[in-house]
Amino acid sequence: LIPIASTLLDLEMATSWLRQRLSSERFQHSLGAQEKAVELAEKFRLPQEERERASVAALLHDAAKLMSPAELLSYCEQHHLPISEMDRLTPQTLHPFVGAELVRATFNLHDEDVLNAIRYHTTARVGMSRVEKLVYIADKIEGNTRNPLYSQKMTAFLDYQDPLSLDLTMLYILDSTIQFLMSKHQVIHPRTVDARNDFVVRLRAEKRL
Ligand SMILES: [Fe+2]
Ligand SMILES: [Fe+2]
Repeated sequence: LIPIASTLLDLEMATSWLRQRLSSERFQHSLGAQEKAVELAEKFRLPQEERERASVAALLHDAAKLMSPAELLSYCEQHHLPISEMDRLTPQTLHPFVGAELVRATFNLHDEDVLNAIRYHTTARVGMSRVEKLVYIADKIEGNTRNPLYSQKMTAFLDYQDPLSLDLTMLYILDSTIQFLMSKHQVIHPRTVDARNDFVVRLRAEKRL
């Protein structure tokens, strides 16, 4: 499966830029996420422009992953990215916002759907677009670095004939993420809880829960 060409940016340039920013394991993870996002976009028969957005966002979603909490915080301050008290308690949730800003500035890329898919790949959020959901899911289940048993479990609800199966899969991953964070007594970003509740409400309205 070859990641589709992009009119949003030069994919070859973006890939070599990314390789220099990441460890080889993180880079492989990023390629895996891109491949998985493209695969899902094709299987769900998304329009071509959404396939491109999913491909680019999944490739670049972890562009800021290697930055330390201190580097992330100072980058946000320098670039006027808003930081909440909760973000300070969970600095790992800042790498998506810094990553989106790096991509925007480096590639002059202003597609908000791509940038939002990068911004919300860790916490998720209320009212996610299809591209945002695909990138969120692809990040968790990509085949290069993720545990295959976990991936299988998380995608048991994926049914390519049923667009709502994306929402069911999101809910399943969010529930298991929240359960994991609770088992470790970790702080849970309220955006994640709000996102999870949003999927419950939507799926109940559709009588799917
Ligand atoms: Fe990430
Ligand atoms: Fe990732």
